[in-house]
Amino acid sequence: MARPVILLMSGPNLNLLGDREPEIYGTETLMDHVANAREQAQEKGFDLEHVQSNHEGALIDAIHAARGRVASIVINAGALTHYSWSLHDALSAYNGPVVELHLSDPKSREPWRHLSVIEPVAISSVVGKGGAGYREAIDTAINACNNSDA
Ligand code: DQA
Repeated sequence: MARPVILLMSGPNLNLLGDREPEIYGTETLMDHVANAREQAQEKGFDLEHVQSNHEGALIDAIHAARGRVASIVINAGALTHYSWSLHDALSAYNGPVVELHLSDPKSREPWRHLSVIEPVAISSVVGKGGAGYREAIDTAINACNNSDA
C-alpha cells in the first residue's frame, strides 16, 4: 500500500536560505531542512513531498492539488504568512491537519510580522526553533494524522 504523504511547503525567499540573513535564519540551506524533514517523515512511515515557490498562486495550486491526496501540510509561508488571505482560504478548503512553521519567531520581530493569517487554520505553530523546527513540525503533523485514524 502507498505510504501517506506529508506536503512540506516553502514560500517566497526560502530558496535563499543559507545565504539570506544567516544571523536570523541560520546557515543551513532549504535542501538541508527538506532532507531532515524527509528523514523524520520516512522514519515514521510517511513520504514527504516538497514544494517551494516565490509565487502565491503556485502555492495555492499546490494546496488544491493536495486536497483528498495528502495526509497533512506543513507550511513555512515566508512573508505571505502575514497577509495572504488567499493562502488562508486555500488551507481552509484543505481537509487534513495544517502545521505552521517558521525558523524565527515572527511575533518577537517587527510589528508587521505579528499577524499570521496561517495560524487560524493551523492545528499548531512551530516557531523560533531554527532548523530543529522542521523535524518537530513533521512530528506534530504525523501525530495529528495518527490520532485522527484512531
Ligand atoms: C519566516 C518568517 C517570515 O516573517 C519571513 O518573511 C520569512 C521567514 C521564518 O521562517 O522565520 O521569509 O517565515
